[in-house]
Formats: sequence, C-alpha cells, structure tokens
Amino acid sequence: MAHQVRAVVARGKGAPVSLETIVVPDPGPGEALVKVEACGVCHTDLHYREGGINDDFPFLLGHEAAGVVEAVGEGVTDVAPGDFVILNWRAVCGQCRACLRGRPWYCFSTHNAKQKMTLTDGTELSPALGIGAFAEKTLVAAGQCTKVDRAASAAAAGLLGCGVMAGIGAAINTGNVGRGDSVAVIGCGGVGAAAVAGADLAGAGKIIAVDIDDAKLATARKLGATHAVNSKEADAVEAIRELTGGFGADVVIEAVGRPETYKQAFYARDLAGTVVLVGVPTPEMKLELPLLDVFGRGGALKSSWYGDCLPSRDFPMLIDLYLQGRLDLDTFVTETIALDEVEKAFERMHGGDVLRSVVVF
Ligand code: APR
Ligand code: ZN
Ligand code: ZN
Repeated sequence: MAHQVRAVVARGKGAPVSLETIVVPDPGPGEALVKVEACGVCHTDLHYREGGINDDFPFLLGHEAAGVVEAVGEGVTDVAPGDFVILNWRAVCGQCRACLRGRPWYCFSTHNAKQKMTLTDGTELSPALGIGAFAEKTLVAAGQCTKVDRAASAAAAGLLGCGVMAGIGAAINTGNVGRGDSVAVIGCGGVGAAAVAGADLAGAGKIIAVDIDDAKLATARKLGATHAVNSKEADAVEAIRELTGGFGADVVIEAVGRPETYKQAFYARDLAGTVVLVGVPTPEMKLELPLLDVFGRGGALKSSWYGDCLPSRDFPMLIDLYLQGRLDLDTFVTETIALDEVEKAFERMHGGDVLRSVVVF
C-alpha cells in the first residue's frame, strides 16, 4: 500500500516551492516509513531549490527532522514501529574504505531508501540529502533513523539531524576541544551557535563568538560564549589575539564558509592550533595563503563534514544532555511554522534574525 501525503516540493531552479500531494511507498527490505513530527529549514534546502546542488528536480525538501517510525520493511531490527527517531544522512555502510579503516563517521557510502517517492503522476522525487522530510510521511533507509528519548521536543530534536549536529560536532569531534581550551567561533548562525554550545559542553575555558550581527552574538552568549566580537566594528584576528594573551585561540571554528573568514580563522589561532572549517564554500571561492605561514604556524587545518558525527553515538547522548538541562537546544528553534510556510522561512533567512524556523506537523 502506498501513502498519499502533503509535502513541500521544489519543481524548478529558483522557482518558489509548492505544497503537493506525493506518494510514499510502504517500506521495503531495510527501509522505514516515518511519520514526521518536525523538520527544520536549513540553507541546504534553499541551495537545492536554487539548483546549487544538482539539477535533479523535482526535489522533496527538508532534512532536519524527527518523527515516529510507522512501519519497517523486511530485515529491519534496529528500529521498530513506535520508536521516536531523529533522521540522519549518515547511515553508515560498514563496508566502505572509511568504515573498514575504523572511521565510520567519514562513511563514503551511506544508505538511503531504495524505493522512490513520487508525485501523483509518477514523477520520481529527489529527497534532499536522501531524506525529504517536509512531508507528513517519508521513506528512508532504516539506518537513517536514530532512536532517542521520546521526552525530547521534536522541533528541538530534529535540529540535531543536520546543522546543530554539524556545529556541535565541529567543536567536540573535529576540533577535539578539551577542558580549558580557548576557542573562537567565526559566524554564529545556527551552525556557529551550535559550535559555541559544543565548546561549552567540552569544557572550553574561553569561548569567543565572532559575528557581524549583534543579535547573533547575544544568542551565542546565551549558549556559552564568554566573549563576543562584532567583526564589523573590530578586527577579528586582533580581537581574538588580544583576548588570548596575544597568541590566538587553541581552536578556531569557521562557520561562514568564505575565504575572508577562513583567513581570519587561520591567523586567529595560536601556533600549532587547529582550524575547523564547517562553513560550506561555493565552487568559485579561492583561498590564497603564504605557504610559509601554513608550515610555520603548524597545527591542523581540518574540514568538518556533518560534525564528523556518528548518529548512533552522538544523537542519543546529546538528547540526554538536552533533557538534563545541560544542552540548550530550544534556543535554536526561533519559530515554529506550518508546512505551507517554508517559502516564507527561506525569505526570512536573508534577514538574519532566525537561527532555525521549524515546521511542526
Ligand atoms: N564575519 C563574521 N560573521 C559573518 C560574516 C563575516 N564576514 N558573514 C556572515 N556572518 C555570519 C552571519 O551574520 C550569520 O550569523 O555568519 C552567520 C551565518 O549563519 P547562517 O546564515 O544562519 O548559516 P548557518 O545555518 O549557521 O550555516 C553556516 O555552515 O553548514 C554551513 O552551509 C552552511 O555555509 C553555511 C554555514
Ligand atoms: Zn541542513
Ligand atoms: Zn561506510
């Protein structure tokens, strides 16, 4: 039996998204059907709509989601109907080069549902990041469902499925922030603010938030930043050095995805420190640095893909910390909206006063 549900679809490059009826098949072997309870609006959804990712229109958007498993296909044992789950886009395969080297958080061959969701005329949909959760129900690989404590709010929990996990993971997994470290975060949108929260969880000593928007800096302080720098008013590198005894921070996290801010991160870190790039650049961007500085300053220049997270390890742990009041996920939910308000949420993204708009079903 197939299910007909309402969903947000991007039909063509740059065109506003539309609310459509889609057809979701019953789960086949290794798949799970999930009744979506909440799904955050991420920049990546907008990039899909703008044709910035690929041309496989129509897209079924939405990928920062939590919901309840409604049915599972043959052979699925890790999740069962009734489980409250966060959807992930890193269902590790266990067999690729990365998995076999014991680094499953880099898995190069993650699983998605094999069957296609379609429009009512049979046109196949491309689900964003292999999820597609601006839909009352969605079909995913069972490994994309990570069971967490049902007591968590779906709107807050769903955000761990992408941007907030990327930020927290950039600090705790990629940056390996430790107790007492000095940390600077450049760009404090949803991802950077989460990196601040992650650095706080990891016991960082100083946490310096940098942004060009005072409202973002205020939120970063609420999430654990000990210092805030408006880099429109002050030189970010100078300010970070001044706050760290003239040396620079042990770990600098770049959460904008631009060459200028990457350079700031590079020079705002102490000798042998770590730069983590979690902001996603666009194809035309280029970086020029004196190679002697790359050598002479030492340390590590790392990229963070999805916060180097392992959903089965990180999601339940972070939800437990949230429920204990030790990780404030609610602050990331700026507003909850209805399914037909995704286009409006895209417009609000440009305004910059939103960490996340979250569709609640
Ligand atoms: N210096 C400092 N901060 C800046 C600058 C700059 N030159 N330019 C923009 N910012 C700030 C914005 O004010 C905003 O607070 O960076 C933040 C970007 O946040 P969002 O637009 O909310 O984006 P977010 O969801 O946090 O994602 C950030 O990470 O995963 C990637 O694709 C994502 O590249 C994007 C980045
Ligand atoms: Zn996302
Ligand atoms: Zn793998």
